[in-house]
Amino acid sequence: MSTFWSWYIALLTISTLLALFWLIFATRKGEQPGETEQTMGHSFDGIEEYDNPLPRWWFMLFLGTLLFAAGYLVLYPGLGNWKGLLPGYHNGWTQVAQWQREVDQAEQLYGPIFAKYAAMPLDQVANDPQALKMGGRLFATYCSICHGSDAKGTVGFPNLTDRHWRWGGEPETIKTSILQGRTGMMPAWGQVLGEEGVKQVAGYVRHKLAGLPLPKDQSIDLEQGAQLFTSNCTACHGAAGTGMAMLGAPDLTQPSGWIYGSGLAQLQQTIRYGRNGQMPAQEQYLGNDKVHLLAAYILSLGREQVPPTEQLTER
Ligand code: HEC
Ligand code: HEC
Repeated sequence: MSTFWSWYIALLTISTLLALFWLIFATRKGEQPGETEQTMGHSFDGIEEYDNPLPRWWFMLFLGTLLFAAGYLVLYPGLGNWKGLLPGYHNGWTQVAQWQREVDQAEQLYGPIFAKYAAMPLDQVANDPQALKMGGRLFATYCSICHGSDAKGTVGFPNLTDRHWRWGGEPETIKTSILQGRTGMMPAWGQVLGEEGVKQVAGYVRHKLAGLPLPKDQSIDLEQGAQLFTSNCTACHGAAGTGMAMLGAPDLTQPSGWIYGSGLAQLQQTIRYGRNGQMPAQEQYLGNDKVHLLAAYILSLGREQVPPTEQLTER
């Protein structure tokens, strides 16, 4: 800021404050008991205004804000180029500098712990109670908003505690999913297949691949559905419909791992319009060390649960 503007701001601010001090004392009337009957001398439709002194609490409050302002301007930057008296900030106090200081302090405190775990293999970290506690806290802060606080997901967001993995469940693959993010690209088939085609292939996926019952009142040509599947879907979902982790194409024979629902209407919706699930990349944002802890935490979640039989849940 140029010297001119610095002085301009400083003088304007100080004179305003002084003017307000003057105003509140100059216009102050002492409390004079028994004189409340005095009015301002005007009347609107018979309504008159008393000429009473300001309530004491109001006066003190006003004075308090003025004193606060004066104190603030002495301690913190605010008056033009004035840096403030607050110690410890050689370049003047700023929110950014204060935030950075706290981040640096935390980094000094926790950095070595994060680094220690980052140097250990994921399998080993997933057995360390302290690491899992830290990973759990990171998860609650950064991931639960989409995957749920129990990591069990919801419509559109995968369950991270089961054995179904869209992109692969190897420790390093899970870490890659978090570091680099993932984008599912299920194309829209409505235009290509037409309404009838969508209905048939949805029925085929639900009944023949996933083994779920079809409603009796629907006439669905499963033969036709099978053909449509073979010619349009196997490139990504595989010849047997068991999916392809490299593309994030889910296993269509395991409906408990699906995220967009297994009802006929939901399947048709998925096939007609396509889906684009987005897992945001965390590398830039959280850094390798924290993601390492997160991946270990997720591994530990899967470990606790080894479902003996597949449950055909309809979501
Ligand atoms: C280009 C590759 C590709 C092709 C071709 C493709 N899919 Fe998909 N499909 C995907 C991907 C990737 C996903 C995951 C989308 C996501 O996670 O948002 C997906 C998701 C799905 C789902 C939702 C599963 C869930 O989790 O709820 C169904 C159902 C499905 N596909 C059926 C089909 C059918 C039927 C066809 C053929 C008409 C087909 N797909 C063709 C890549 C493909
Ligand atoms: C904005 C919502 C959102 C946030 C925040 C988010 N995720 Fe995801 N995540 C998704 C979606 C959506 C997918 C599925 C992508 C797809 O369609 O294939 C996913 C997929 C994943 C996968 C791969 C699952 C599989 O089946 O292969 C992992 C692992 C994962 N997330 C972990 C995390 C972790 C750890 C965090 C916290 C740092 C996190 N996610 C934060 C939305 C989110």
